[in-house]
Amino acid sequence: MGRNRLVAGNWKMNGSSALIQSFFDDMKNQSLPDQVGLLLCPPLVYLPEMLAAARGTGISVGAQTVCETAEAGAFTGEVSAEMLSDIGASHVIVGHSERRHIYGESSDMVASKFSAAQSAGLVPILCVGETLEEREAGNMETVLAEQLGCVLSQCGASALGQAIVAYEPVWAIGTGKTASPEQAQAAHAFLRSQVAAQDDTIAAGLQILYGGSVKPDNAAELFACEDVDGGLIGGASLKVESFLGIARAG
Ligand code: PGA
Repeated sequence: MGRNRLVAGNWKMNGSSALIQSFFDDMKNQSLPDQVGLLLCPPLVYLPEMLAAARGTGISVGAQTVCETAEAGAFTGEVSAEMLSDIGASHVIVGHSERRHIYGESSDMVASKFSAAQSAGLVPILCVGETLEEREAGNMETVLAEQLGCVLSQCGASALGQAIVAYEPVWAIGTGKTASPEQAQAAHAFLRSQVAAQDDTIAAGLQILYGGSVKPDNAAELFACEDVDGGLIGGASLKVESFLGIARAG
């Protein structure tokens, strides 16, 4: 397969200074798994604190979203990719289903965020995934093709060479319902084929993470799938034991 594994934690709107302190205190006694990249994405306000706590631990730190406009200016409340890069963040999640569904981010807007992130030297983690209704209506591939296709057409297939994709079926996020390994593999293989249709080499090297109720006891079977290159972990990334339990799986 040849692709490295990444286990990324999305803390969503959870955490505190105290949690960051205790998380990294607990980390001190742990040996990190070899050959697995680790990344944590805390709420924006805690980025500097987590960056400081993570220094020297081998854990990268990223953001959960970014402004779609690259230039500084009159965008009250927003934070630019340049700013994230300036303080030392390495990655940014774009198009998480909570951003698409709660905050109405369109695939076009997500593609602009992806592009702004890359221009500032950040690695975007592009989230895609269908709702239960879309899956039951037989539209999973159509939805994934549209969400990924917007980035492919706006940024080009070569942009996927410095990016990560995360398949996160909306019905599996925070619900305790995980996609079966077969469902995850089918979606990941479809996503890879969409990229391969434009560039085989980029597709072969692309890391595609699975997200949606990943836990230490189901991670190994998901990570064993040929096209699953790691996980994007919500709830289980808030505790060292479960986060590392997932990272050590498989
Ligand atoms: P979950 O969230 O692991 O809590 O289901 C995953 C995500 O939303 O990235």
